[in-house]
Amino acid sequence: MRAVVYDRYGPPEVLRLADVQRPVPKVDEVLVKVHAAAVTRADCATREANRRSGLLISVISQLVSGVGRPRQRILGSEFAGVVEALGAAVTEFSVGDRVFGSSGFRFGAHAQFMCIPESARIASMPAGMSCDDAAAICDGGLNALWCLKVGDLRKGQRILIYGASGAIGTAGVMVAKYFGADITAVCNTKNIEVVRSLGADRVIDYTKEDFAKNGETYDVIFDAVGKQSFGRCVDSLALGGRYLATDGLANLVLAMWTSRFGNKKVIFSIPPRYTKKDVLFLKELIEAGKYRAVIDRRYPMEDVVEAARYVETEQKTGNVIMTIA
Ligand SMILES: NC(=O)c1ccc[n+]([C@@H]2O[C@H](COP(=O)([O-])OP(=O)(O)OC[C@H]3O[C@@H](n4cnc5c(N)ncnc54)[C@H](OP(=O)(O)O)[C@@H]3O)[C@@H](O)[C@H]2O)c1
Repeated sequence: MRAVVYDRYGPPEVLRLADVQRPVPKVDEVLVKVHAAAVTRADCATREANRRSGLLISVISQLVSGVGRPRQRILGSEFAGVVEALGAAVTEFSVGDRVFGSSGFRFGAHAQFMCIPESARIASMPAGMSCDDAAAICDGGLNALWCLKVGDLRKGQRILIYGASGAIGTAGVMVAKYFGADITAVCNTKNIEVVRSLGADRVIDYTKEDFAKNGETYDVIFDAVGKQSFGRCVDSLALGGRYLATDGLANLVLAMWTSRFGNKKVIFSIPPRYTKKDVLFLKELIEAGKYRAVIDRRYPMEDVVEAARYVETEQKTGNVIMTIA
């Protein structure tokens, strides 16, 4: 089968198309013919062994992914496609089912075929949804759901979502809306309309206004793009407020410190523990018309280097999709 592989950590140019062995499903696994997969910040960070995040994080990243060179040569976690074959013990799926999900740090989705256990994060696709759209659900969706759950966002609470135009941010707006929160979203001028259309009650254009200086306070500040800090947000948090982080080692220390001292907390719970139930929850939201795919660009598999370069600009709106079949 054709797959995008990489044999050493580095820039997008280490990615190349290759013919590799088609995987064979284990007894509890499903073989999926992948039609579309997301190209994500996690793919890019893993591919360059998280070097941009400093030596310590890079060492930890390599302990997970392979020291010196990657153990798993095929990146890609969020996928959509059709079940091609089944392990002998699989009961939930049949050949021909349209499925979507996330293999997480097992990766393997940037390929024509991938295997995933039926008990993992895989579900049948929402009725009427295209594979491109289904592949764009889980990256931001699972992360935003995890953050808002551990951040204990409740109905009627005021939330500010910073970086509301990214994969996690766009998903965060839709999930927070479902939770019944009052949403202020922060993004660039060009993304105001899309963010408003997802359900934000008000939108702040960060090129024109600094949310940290306008005197407003929030029960939750969700830093969905990792560009803020607790220090900058603390005066904008109401008493008992929570700052939800998606990035940054310092936030781990701050989360421990604020869990004991002070009444404003940093919440940064990693690694996230996404489950199949979460994928099914997102599917239900889609079928209820409360969640949709936000896709910025699509690239054919052959243009993976271009796709990765674009994701690395950190300027995508929602998701970037690799079309495969
Ligand atoms: N904790 C985890 O498990 C986990 C998993 C995956 C990702 N992450 C982290 O989560 C963060 C977000 O990931 P993502 O995939 O959602 O990001 P993304 O899609 O790449 O975010 C891009 C968006 O962020 C906006 N943006 C960029 N710089 C900004 C700034 N300074 N202020 C406001 N908006 C800005 C961009 O719009 P403009 O340029 O127009 O502003 C763009 O729309 C990343 O830091 C990533 O490393 C964490």
